[in-house]
Amino acid sequence: MRVLVDGDRGYLGAVMVPVLRAAGHDVVGLDVGWYDGCDFGAQPDGYEQRTGDVRDATPEDLDGFDAVIHLAAISNDPIGHLNPDATYDVNARGAVHMARVAKEAGVPRFLFSSSCSLYGAGGDAPVTEDGEFHPVTPYGESKVMAEQGISPLADESFSPTYLRNATAYGSSPRLRADIVVNNLTGTAYTRGEVRLQSDGSPWRPLVHARDIAAAFLAALEAPREVVHDQAFNVGRDEDVVQIRTIAEQVSEITGAPVSFADGAGPDARNYRVDFTKIRTLLPAADPSWTVPDGIREIWKDAADRALTADDFEGARFVRLERIRQLAADGRLDISTLRLR
Ligand SMILES: NC(=O)c1ccc[n+]([C@@H]2O[C@H](COP(=O)([O-])OP(=O)(O)OC[C@H]3O[C@@H](n4cnc5c(N)ncnc54)[C@H](O)[C@@H]3O)[C@@H](O)[C@H]2O)c1
Repeated sequence: MRVLVDGDRGYLGAVMVPVLRAAGHDVVGLDVGWYDGCDFGAQPDGYEQRTGDVRDATPEDLDGFDAVIHLAAISNDPIGHLNPDATYDVNARGAVHMARVAKEAGVPRFLFSSSCSLYGAGGDAPVTEDGEFHPVTPYGESKVMAEQGISPLADESFSPTYLRNATAYGSSPRLRADIVVNNLTGTAYTRGEVRLQSDGSPWRPLVHARDIAAAFLAALEAPREVVHDQAFNVGRDEDVVQIRTIAEQVSEITGAPVSFADGAGPDARNYRVDFTKIRTLLPAADPSWTVPDGIREIWKDAADRALTADDFEGARFVRLERIRQLAADGRLDISTLRLR
């Protein structure tokens, strides 16, 4: 298939593009380039990389593609809080715009990178894809708005699918330090302690970046009737864990003691997720990574690349810091989240 992957130069995109290409797909990227240069190893190359904002995409841009994988977004809560309206603009209106132009161009498949954070403050029972949405942040809300805006476009010519990813972990050529497993492991390496930002009680579903890539590949190649206008939670039941359990695992593997950051308190984002549907309907997605494997992987890559605390906690790997840096340098307008 000829596949346009937007957001290809981010954390998940840099892992997903080689997986898609290894499976024989012809990939073209489209990314605004916010994190260009924020490298953690060699970047994927050898494929066409377009630079542009998804909000400006036209049907002509999508001519001749068999599928769009839409990853481009403000990818976490802290950036979402900076300017909620601009977050809705990129994550919700941008996603719906991309789906609309894809449909207009005759692209039959559209995979939307959604998030389990749309379940937000969940109850005690693991939530299935039919569960209610209780997003607690503009980021979570933007994913609900996007899904609800894209779904009415589904018809016999256009099949959108919503992949609600658990919180990712694992190494990537565009590493992120602001997601929990990576953060705790990197801090263990650079500071010699596993520093918790909350009291550790919230439940969180986790999934390795490469297992997310495998899930997108499985959805891309699945029969249309299996994925048409369907949502899938992406992750595995064994990896729905409390944050303090992750901290204990990092501590056990790295030998660094657990500590609590100043003001660490409860966290409103607390949800358990059920992964029966993806396991049953998309067996090719079968996740193979465990959290301890991911911790060991990041620890090794941190050592191989002599990762420093300044780097790990700065603009290179923390998305919010990078956005602030681009704004401070006059290269990004925070009110619109557009590059100048
Ligand atoms: N990483 C996770 O834990 C996780 C979990 C659930 C869902 N997701 C979703 O998966 C997607 C990818 O996440 P990630 O971790 O790779 O994030 P990331 O921030 O590393 O990458 C996002 C990429 O999108 C690009 N981008 C942002 N706005 C754009 C725009 N308007 N036009 C074109 N490009 C734009 C950025 O330059 C960046 O390269 C996002 O939609 C995110 O919400 C991620």
